[in-house]
Amino acid sequence: MRNVIIFDTTLRDGEQSPGCSMNLQEKLEVAALLEALRVDVIEAGFAVTSPDDFAAVKAVSAAVKDCAVASLSRAVKGDIDCSWEALRGGVAPRLHIVLPTSPIHIEHKLKSTREEVLSMAAESVAYAKALCPDVQFSAEDAGRSDRDFLVKVYEAVIAAGATVINVPDTVGYLTPGEMRELITFLFSRTRGIENVCVAAHCHNDLGMAVANSLSAVEAGASQVECTLNGIGERAGNAPLEEVVMAIKTKQTHFGAATRVDTRQIYRASRALCGIIGITPTPTKPVVGANAFAHESGIHQHGVLQNRETYEILRPEDIGIPANKMVLGKHSGRHALTERLAELGYSLSEEEIEEAYERFKLLADRKKLVSDDDIIALVSEKSFEVSGGYKLERFIVLNGSNLPATATIKLSRDDAEYEEACTGDGPINAAYNAVNRIAGGEFLLTDYSIRSVTEGEDALGEAIVKLRRGHESATGRGLSTDIIEASIKAYINGVNKITAI
Ligand code: KIV
Ligand code: ZN
Repeated sequence: MRNVIIFDTTLRDGEQSPGCSMNLQEKLEVAALLEALRVDVIEAGFAVTSPDDFAAVKAVSAAVKDCAVASLSRAVKGDIDCSWEALRGGVAPRLHIVLPTSPIHIEHKLKSTREEVLSMAAESVAYAKALCPDVQFSAEDAGRSDRDFLVKVYEAVIAAGATVINVPDTVGYLTPGEMRELITFLFSRTRGIENVCVAAHCHNDLGMAVANSLSAVEAGASQVECTLNGIGERAGNAPLEEVVMAIKTKQTHFGAATRVDTRQIYRASRALCGIIGITPTPTKPVVGANAFAHESGIHQHGVLQNRETYEILRPEDIGIPANKMVLGKHSGRHALTERLAELGYSLSEEEIEEAYERFKLLADRKKLVSDDDIIALVSEKSFEVSGGYKLERFIVLNGSNLPATATIKLSRDDAEYEEACTGDGPINAAYNAVNRIAGGEFLLTDYSIRSVTEGEDALGEAIVKLRRGHESATGRGLSTDIIEASIKAYINGVNKITAI
């Protein structure tokens, strides 16, 4: 059985796409989820692009112990030095160099020539290799590059010390057959290829990123690059959960396996939704809300007789527990601790105590507390901003012929603040009151609300996106009352922006 290396780029290719930016604390949280998932490599960022990116790569490198950590660089010394400076404190650093190789990129983006690209590739890899034993080279837009030229470039970087050669389909242009042919061609023609790891990095512009990644594996690639929930530039990258579950479900077919702990997938996917405020479409394979739902009577009947009639994946394999035992207000600390462990959390005593306090508050409002509620409760702690505003009390008045008014009381440190405002509906009125307290011109650019579970007393999760000048943040709030969830989400966003 071959091992397929999972290289996760949620924090680099994913994070650089619109609406997916994360602050340092959020990146560290995602890195911890990826480590728990047991991906092999975490690409933590592109260190040279900003001081924040540099700080994130450095912090992730210091925190992660069980995966390699990579930082992207262009094929220039300044970028490589910067990546190395951010990575060097880590347990297993990887320098990742990207250089375009397709005619269109060489001519219009680099304004250069093939000869120059060839020497830049070899020189940058040699330079990186002198700093770090693990060097990955990516031929950007390999999918549209001239094959003979690609072979020359890969041979040059292998000779210069690259340990991984990556074949990116940067614009999502290839078909699975073309990807298979390309990888097969490279294996048959590139001197030294047997000594390095061959990777595929597929974008989803034509909806073929997963199929192309799997074709690459069939043709002998031993690393696949992907992101949680498939976030990424334009139509995204190959979704980690789909690639990993395809390999696991059809292990005999691929003759391959990954080391990913698939039972962490659901939790990681949900946590990412909360952090970036983007929920996958319900029919999204593996992690969409309908991925395991059976609506039609014929299907339901079949599944009740034997699950395998209509299910090729088992929900528990991705961490949706089969045991639907719910907790309630009479459940004790012990029951919650056990449930948390079954859901894949290993929390400290202090974190369990904190989760228990939140659980009791929720159980007072809601008869039955489900696994989804528990997952939401635990993640609530991680998105709070310490030292920020807290909601103490709110009153909203609204009606068909009444202007909506809201009175909001917030606290911060030991001080309390109260304001009343009108608005275009109760939520707008409440947000105006928070703005008045926080003294900032916050612009609401997105708002959504969903119920975490079913039923009348379901926990609601509000997600807002806020902007103030150039700063933006995603805020999240949970409550069984949707107005309260919405206000908490707004305060969370304001706290994040004011903490920047
Ligand atoms: O899509 C791409 O080509 C990339 C490279 C940096 C690998 O993201
Ligand atoms: Zn990419």
